[in-house]
Amino acid sequence: MKAVTFHGKRDVRVDTVPDPRIEEPTDAIVKITSTGICGSDLHLYEVLGAFMDEGDILGHEPMGVVEEVGAEVTHIQAGDRVVIPFNISCGHCYMCDQKLFSQCETTQVREENKGAALLGYTKLYGQVPGGQAEYLRVPQAHFGPIKVPDGPPDERYVYLSDVLPTAWQAVEYADVPEGGTVAVYGLGPIGQMSARIARHRGAARVFGVDLVPERLEMASRHDIEPVDAREGDPAERLRELTEGRGPDAVIDAVGMEAHGSPVGKLAHQIAGMLPDTVTRAMMEKAGVDRLSVLHNAVDAVRRGGTISLSGVYGGMVDPMPMMDLFDKQIQLRMGQANVRRWVDDIIPLVEDESDPLGVEDLATHKLPLAQAPHAYEIFQKKQDGAIKILLQP
Ligand SMILES: NC(=O)c1ccc[n+]([C@@H]2O[C@H](COP(=O)([O-])OP(=O)(O)OC[C@H]3O[C@@H](n4cnc5c(N)ncnc54)[C@H](O)[C@@H]3O)[C@@H](O)[C@H]2O)c1
Ligand SMILES: [Zn+2]
Ligand SMILES: [Zn+2]
Repeated sequence: MKAVTFHGKRDVRVDTVPDPRIEEPTDAIVKITSTGICGSDLHLYEVLGAFMDEGDILGHEPMGVVEEVGAEVTHIQAGDRVVIPFNISCGHCYMCDQKLFSQCETTQVREENKGAALLGYTKLYGQVPGGQAEYLRVPQAHFGPIKVPDGPPDERYVYLSDVLPTAWQAVEYADVPEGGTVAVYGLGPIGQMSARIARHRGAARVFGVDLVPERLEMASRHDIEPVDAREGDPAERLRELTEGRGPDAVIDAVGMEAHGSPVGKLAHQIAGMLPDTVTRAMMEKAGVDRLSVLHNAVDAVRRGGTISLSGVYGGMVDPMPMMDLFDKQIQLRMGQANVRRWVDDIIPLVEDESDPLGVEDLATHKLPLAQAPHAYEIFQKKQDGAIKILLQP
């Protein structure tokens, strides 16, 4: 079969690899119909190559049709349409019983001292072949796959694999008070959906901070108030918009990619790949330190407010503004999404004809698997209006 494979920094290819097959009675094989490229994949593309081997299959946002199931998989069968959560969880251990599916004790990667294994996500998370491929072996398939009805387009369901549960958890953890205000930093797919979900769940005002024009525009289409980070300090602007106090909650949906890698100068290398205007603005206004967004969030949030991190950070020794965190009495909550935990809350919204979360207004590109190298490139460089790309094998 064809699969998108890692070959080094900014080098992904479409290779022919052996077809996956059932290895455990809890496995399933799924023929993939749509599969997202995620901001998390950009970390691999750019920063985390040291934790990848050449030829590793990427991708953790797949959906498709079941080909075959192992003997212990009973809730789905060949021919069923399914979405696959990016967490690999058993559904019945101590952590899964508490719905902390991203910490599953059956699949925890103990050698690396990490939580549950993930599809297509480095040796840190089990080096499990990913879902940007024609076929996927799904481990723990007696629990993970979400069966969805035939009919509606893949876009209605594919984001259940990661984007929607991650955004839902970000909003849940942000703990926005009834009628309160929330600012979302980063208007990639995760930020877009976090902002829309916050709005849907009753936040009175939702602000979206980014520095890419079409991302700010997309947010505006969904009743999110744009804050352009190229135009000055977002924290200051957010205070102006909230009677000087700052928003009740801040969601950081940027993560390490804004700032660079655990190895120094990367921020500047990334900046060097963005359009010049964006780069200059980033250097002058938004800063390019690894934690610039998180520090800005600490500055912006009101006293006693909450910061919810869904952006992924990887550093070990980054300084945190402990004095401000303590003095402002800020609550900080974060983590890998526990996908299955939120799916039942989200399904009615993606099935609602009126599309309240606008899932049909997120993907800017649907491309064949063969164009994966191009897709990674335009997503990373933010070219051609790319905001979310779905590959369709
Ligand atoms: N917690 C989880 O389970 C989970 C799941 C999926 C993704 N993620 C993480 O969420 C983050 C976002 O993912 P995505 O797919 O939306 O990726 P993305 O790369 O498209 O989004 C990041 C956004 O941040 C913006 N940005 C960069 N620097 C900024 C700055 N200084 N100020 C304001 N905005 C800035 C970028 O323009 C971009 O729109 C990534 O770190 C990803 O790894 C976490
Ligand atoms: Zn993802
Ligand atoms: Zn478990």
